[in-house]
Amino acid sequence: HPLPPQMEENLGLRRSDCRAKGGAPGFKVAILGAAGGIGQPLALLMKMNPLVSVLHLYDVVNTPGVTADVSHMDTGAVVRGFLGQKQLEDALTGMDLVIIPAGVPRKPGMTRDDLFKINAGIVRTLCEGIAKCCPGAIVNLISNPVNSTVAIAAEVFKKAGTYDPKKLLGVTTLDVARANTFVAEVLGVDPRTVNVPVVGGHAGVTILPLLSQVTPPCSFTPEEVAYLTDRIQNGGTEVVEAKAGAGSATLSMAYAAAKFADACLRGLRGDAGVIECSFVASQVTELPYFACKVRLGRAGAEEIFPLGPVNEFERSGLEKAKKELVESIQKGASFIKG
Ligand code: NAD
Ligand code: LMR
Repeated sequence: HPLPPQMEENLGLRRSDCRAKGGAPGFKVAILGAAGGIGQPLALLMKMNPLVSVLHLYDVVNTPGVTADVSHMDTGAVVRGFLGQKQLEDALTGMDLVIIPAGVPRKPGMTRDDLFKINAGIVRTLCEGIAKCCPGAIVNLISNPVNSTVAIAAEVFKKAGTYDPKKLLGVTTLDVARANTFVAEVLGVDPRTVNVPVVGGHAGVTILPLLSQVTPPCSFTPEEVAYLTDRIQNGGTEVVEAKAGAGSATLSMAYAAAKFADACLRGLRGDAGVIECSFVASQVTELPYFACKVRLGRAGAEEIFPLGPVNEFERSGLEKAKKELVESIQKGASFIKG
């Protein structure tokens, strides 16, 4: 709905430039794939985030409806919709943070890698747009297979000369949310009081919960460790099967994506001690990318924490995870490098 020019200008002054004017910080955030199962509830949650001053919603379908709907929420962010490839550059220009849940989800019987064929090309196109229009933005990559799409994005950015490893973050927050939930169930406590580091990657055995490092410290029987590890590694499949062909996790994922995006924005604002797990460029293992705890700051993932002490069970899980990860990363990189 077009605004009279003076009103558009007022909105711009009041919200977009509030940082420059010394007001409350406000960041510009784009969601690519905003009309999808994750995109819609994520748009809702980002519209509720007081750190967001401008919210751009991009998709190849249905963004006018989603934008009209979300824009009526009486929260601070100005919402704008963008539809189709021709509007991608406008959607991205000036963004501080770009969140990417674009792409197809799994159906029962599929692995995340089965999505590569379609999602690899989608991620490439979107990242080419980012390299051109907002090369300094932090990118939160959700599209599966994350273990490959992060390498795809990195190679696109390297090719364009804009790659900043601190700013490319594969989103593994849902693995941590699941781990916290399932561990809290076993312990009989509130999940908000539990923190489980989950390292490695985001598919099957590459999802490696470090149950020996749960805070507050606690111990599990071997049966509990086996049950928890299996449930955390297969949490995505549990949802895919329950949805029986209607897609994969969308609501818990939107929650996790909004939580991770909020952490990135708090880091950008300069908050101290913002720590989350994420799949990032790393020297923690011999692999080029690996999920582990990172400290988020003004530059993105400013510090990457080592794995810490792992027990025998976790060491063996780590070897299995690395074996699969190396191939998924290679597959993603080769998609761009040929
Ligand atoms: P969905 O099909 O409901 O939505 C995807 C959206 O992407 C659709 O609206 C579609 O139009 C859009 N899209 C397709 N091609 C596009 C393009 N070229 N540019 C922009 N938008 C495009 O799927 P969903 O359930 O929202 O899942 C999206 C992706 O997120 C899937 O790949 C899924 O596997 C992944 N996922 C990741 C995690 C994680 O933890 N990282 C969790 C859940 C889902
Ligand atoms: C998840 O973990 O829920 C996502 O990666 C979606 C999926 O395919 O399992």
